[in-house]
Amino acid sequence: MAERIVIPGGTLDAHVHFRQPGATHKEDFVTGTRAALKGGYTAVFDMPNNPIPTVTPSALDEKRRLANGNIYVDLGFNYGGTVESSKTFGLVQDRIRALKVYMNPTTGNLLVKTDQELETIFTRWPRKYPIMVHAEGQTFERAINMARKTGQRLHLCHMSLKREIEMVRDAKNEGLPVTCEVSAHHLLLTEEDADSLPTGQGRMKPPLATSEDRDSLWENLDVIDILASDHAPHTREEKDNFEEEKGPYGVTGLETTLPLMLTAVDDGLLTLEKLIDMISTKPRKIFGLREDPRTFTEVIFGESSYVIDSKNLETRAKQTPFDGYRVTGRVANVELRGVRILNEGEIVALPQGRII
Ligand code: NCD
Ligand code: ZN
Ligand code: ZN
Ligand code: ZN
Repeated sequence: MAERIVIPGGTLDAHVHFRQPGATHKEDFVTGTRAALKGGYTAVFDMPNNPIPTVTPSALDEKRRLANGNIYVDLGFNYGGTVESSKTFGLVQDRIRALKVYMNPTTGNLLVKTDQELETIFTRWPRKYPIMVHAEGQTFERAINMARKTGQRLHLCHMSLKREIEMVRDAKNEGLPVTCEVSAHHLLLTEEDADSLPTGQGRMKPPLATSEDRDSLWENLDVIDILASDHAPHTREEKDNFEEEKGPYGVTGLETTLPLMLTAVDDGLLTLEKLIDMISTKPRKIFGLREDPRTFTEVIFGESSYVIDSKNLETRAKQTPFDGYRVTGRVANVELRGVRILNEGEIVALPQGRII
């Protein structure tokens, strides 16, 4: 039986890459926030790993200028954490949502290599919002150790491994101020799937892992705080024109996460309450967004199945690892501050998102 469910108060994806300025052939604030709206989000946070990274007050202001008037949902900015940028934390803290620190190589040029640099950044951060880290392998433990040493709130991005989730469980048991996120592709795909996906659609950071790792995410859902899409658009040409070892990392996710996860609810993999917590209540709490009684997302799940078709995506990068997937959930309606902006899956309003 199909059921309509209202997710009240606002949904948040705290981890997306909108590529403006510098790589708008992949995505920009218009196409990115349209994808977010279609995907059922009322707020998203943009990451700082642009060609000119968001590590200075002027780069941040340029993003705000470009986004202003062009966004379909609310948009916040995560600032890039480097030793150099840490001198400006005080100047930008009221215009950003979180700090983002890259501890492993990935798209962009923001790698923080040593514990000494990391400690400088953690110590200078003015503590209002969490420090989000991209950490994989050895660096995962170093990030947790730095949270212990400095007492800072740490948010671990896109967890994918069994040993990572075990470390997060231990850190939480120890009472450390640690939260974490997972992305739908790590919950639903493994390294074995990578070969059968279209070129590059199994290629992202962190990489797809083993079925044991994937299963451990489902078995430890109680440790996982939020869902994040890690929406990382690259064009089909960029994905196709590279050998498997050279192509850009990242896949889109804004428009597929909720349909896939609603389908997982329908399949009995998690409860609707947990899904709503991971996509709405908890991310708002972690990142300090107030609940808005006039903002909601209405979804339908358990309806007759349909197939995800990358051609229908709003993102400029019309590709997804889930092209052709059969799902039973969809996003129907979205209201933002009392205004209907998505109606039965169609965008029906001009951009009226706010920079938050
Ligand atoms: C992201 C991107 O392309 O910006 N890529 C990815 O594979 N996830 C960067 C990141 O989140 O590591
Ligand atoms: Zn990352
Ligand atoms: Zn990312
Ligand atoms: Zn059903």
